[in-house]
Amino acid sequence: MTGSKKPWVGGNWKCNGTKAAADTLCKALNEASFDPAAIDVVICAPTLHLSLAQEKLKKSYIISAQNVSKTGNGAYTGETSADMLLDMGINWTLIGHSERRQYYGETDAVVADKTALALKTGMKTAICIGETLQEREANNTHAVLKRQMDAVIPVISNWSHVIIAYEPVWAIGTGKVATPEQAQDAHQYIRQLVKEKAGSAVAADLRIAYGGSVTPDNCKDLFAKPDIDGFLVGGASLKPSFVDIIKSALN
Ligand code: PGA
Repeated sequence: MTGSKKPWVGGNWKCNGTKAAADTLCKALNEASFDPAAIDVVICAPTLHLSLAQEKLKKSYIISAQNVSKTGNGAYTGETSADMLLDMGINWTLIGHSERRQYYGETDAVVADKTALALKTGMKTAICIGETLQEREANNTHAVLKRQMDAVIPVISNWSHVIIAYEPVWAIGTGKVATPEQAQDAHQYIRQLVKEKAGSAVAADLRIAYGGSVTPDNCKDLFAKPDIDGFLVGGASLKPSFVDIIKSALN
């Protein structure tokens, strides 16, 4: 990471845990001490556990949703609107995680609709993008990232409320982390795309987090790269040693 940006570290709990497990994890996370003015640590809890995380985690943590509806309040059975999240004191959400794209049919257009509405409503969001193994092996990584960014850039009404999470699908939950060079190449390319469409100042300030098999052991080398401004962590965020990833991003 370079410049004066604030590191961004997300813990994506996905659809895991019981009340008791979440409670135990919150206690472990509360052992960490960090200045929220120096780093954003964003815990993405399952919807049902958002209130629990709000209640149990100390205030230096930001609590985030993992998904948000593309529609507002109304006759939309099973959805969680940005209005409702904000009313609960939740002002961050992930959008377009690859698991949403893969298993729940979220297209680039859906991701753009969700982004537009979430930002308009006043939420902050981590927009997730990344290529599959097949796309990487076919040398299409840049083309995929461009397609995914081209879908959302026109609807981003407030860049200070957005971070981009680059998460190569082949690295998610596989233990196969991208090399620092692979991640840096993708991050630099994403920043270049933003520079072309939104200008140098926006691109320089944009935080781009890497996600995909991040651990306390591999995060330091990734973070040393100039365009890597933080992490979105899945599996390793369910362990007490997640606090070591926070520490690495602070040093
Ligand atoms: P992982 O997941 O760290 O378990 O690979 C990352 C993510 O999906 O956000």
